[in-house]
Amino acid sequence: MKSVELFIFDMDGVITESSEQHYLAWKNLAEEIGVAIDRSFNERLKGISRLASLDRILEHGGLEGKFTRDEKKQLANRKNQVYVEMISQFREENLFEGVVELFKRLKCRGIKIAIGSASKNAPMLVKLLGIEPYIDYIVNPEEVGNGKPAPDIFLKAAEIMGVDPCRCVGIEDAEAGVKAIKAAGMFAVGIGNSQVMKEADIIFAETKDINIDEVLSRFCQ
Ligand code: BG6
Ligand code: MG
Repeated sequence: MKSVELFIFDMDGVITESSEQHYLAWKNLAEEIGVAIDRSFNERLKGISRLASLDRILEHGGLEGKFTRDEKKQLANRKNQVYVEMISQFREENLFEGVVELFKRLKCRGIKIAIGSASKNAPMLVKLLGIEPYIDYIVNPEEVGNGKPAPDIFLKAAEIMGVDPCRCVGIEDAEAGVKAIKAAGMFAVGIGNSQVMKEADIIFAETKDINIDEVLSRFCQ
């Protein structure tokens, strides 16, 4: 029977609610350049890299082509400074309910844990949240070719951990993330709205609802 060897977790919106801070920081920057964004538009930014998110915001405001490459980098840096300031106070209490219990249960079964986030800030969050002891590997998005929805981030985690993608489970809250997991040939656990997560193999409303036995039994079907 096929067994699971590696769980690859997205960070923002799966382990902690930092996707809210990403949204607020982007909203702040968008207002500065005269673009209005709301939470429904923000769904299209989830899982998307920093510069690609800025491009989507500029396109949304009809400002594509207005800024040079360097100016765009500066805008993205400004957003990041605001975001980093917002998450600097994050502590273990900011973990979503059930995360540590889930990690402990996976470790008990000998299943490895990796973080497959598009965020360059993921290592800092892992430290602030106090979950370093459970994490075997954190993908550096700068070391992979393409961001989500391409499979590269998930494939990198599998490659470094020496696990066949068909023995990996990915956990995501973003549509682009679920697409990336499926493109990597992995089993996808979706967190959140069943409409947004429709391509996932199994869906739970929140991280605390993830039932490992249910995931493993679906995985083996
Ligand atoms: C993803 C978030 O995890 O990381 C996106 O869902 C964010 O909203 C992306 O833009 C990149 O993050 P960062 O921290 O490198 O700007
Ligand atoms: Mg996410």
